[in-house]
Amino acid sequence: MSDIDEYYIAVLRLVKEAGSIVREKINQPKDTMTKSCEVDLVTEWDQKVEKLLVDGISSKFPDHKFIGEEATSLGTKVELTDAPTWIIDPIDGTMNFVHGLPHTCISIALLINKTTEIGVVYNPILEQLFSARKGQGAFLNGAPIRVSGEKELRKALVMMEMGTSRDPEKMKIVLENANNLTPQVHGIRALGSAALNMCMIALGGADISFEFGIHAWDIAAGDIIVREAGGVCIDPAGGPFDVMSRRVLCASTMELAQELAKVLVQYYPEHD
Ligand code: IPD
Repeated sequence: MSDIDEYYIAVLRLVKEAGSIVREKINQPKDTMTKSCEVDLVTEWDQKVEKLLVDGISSKFPDHKFIGEEATSLGTKVELTDAPTWIIDPIDGTMNFVHGLPHTCISIALLINKTTEIGVVYNPILEQLFSARKGQGAFLNGAPIRVSGEKELRKALVMMEMGTSRDPEKMKIVLENANNLTPQVHGIRALGSAALNMCMIALGGADISFEFGIHAWDIAAGDIIVREAGGVCIDPAGGPFDVMSRRVLCASTMELAQELAKVLVQYYPEHD
């Protein structure tokens, strides 16, 4: 068994355990705290799930590093080195989790030498386990998945989010993009979880997804799942994808990705 096999088996076990917490708590009353603004929420369960994952991985692989949403919000510096690093969003779609909307997930990726080796996105409410390993394809609950192959924007189902920032410049750009795109595409959808939006591209249920202002933990796992399903991840202006750039565009084909990149109004947040 390779090291990566061991990491993969360990993370799947932990993610399932973490999923039981999310499943048990989603329909119970929760106290919420705010982070960057009044709609950027966190609950004690985000923190507990992150701790379970970090403690579980550290106990087996003590030299592994972490970039976690909740540790970062408490002041831990984000640092991506060549060391094996797990990038974790313990609950992506926290707002959905708070309201009991069943599109919420655990998103976790392992990068070694800054290359993604493993990505897992688990929605324990709908029992959707998306997974991918470098060079081995992408899977939903163990069955292979594939992007739609759509190449034309006019026929595309687009995933985009309002995001959790209430910065007026950012909101203006989001609304401009929604306005411009609506008459040019088949439709626009938002699940309220960047990771699940990306998995919909991998699944072939939607064709293209983009967002400005997300963080590495929202997109690191989705990136490898989309690419292993035959899709592409790029910067929304058309260049190479950078997991730390807080910008993502993923699509079923490069033709479609580049067509959207040409018409998007761009927003450049501060890097992670
Ligand atoms: C958020 C979700 C949301 C996206 C935001 C993210 P969180 O993550 O992915 O869909 O629009 O940009 O911050 O806060 O629920 O982990």
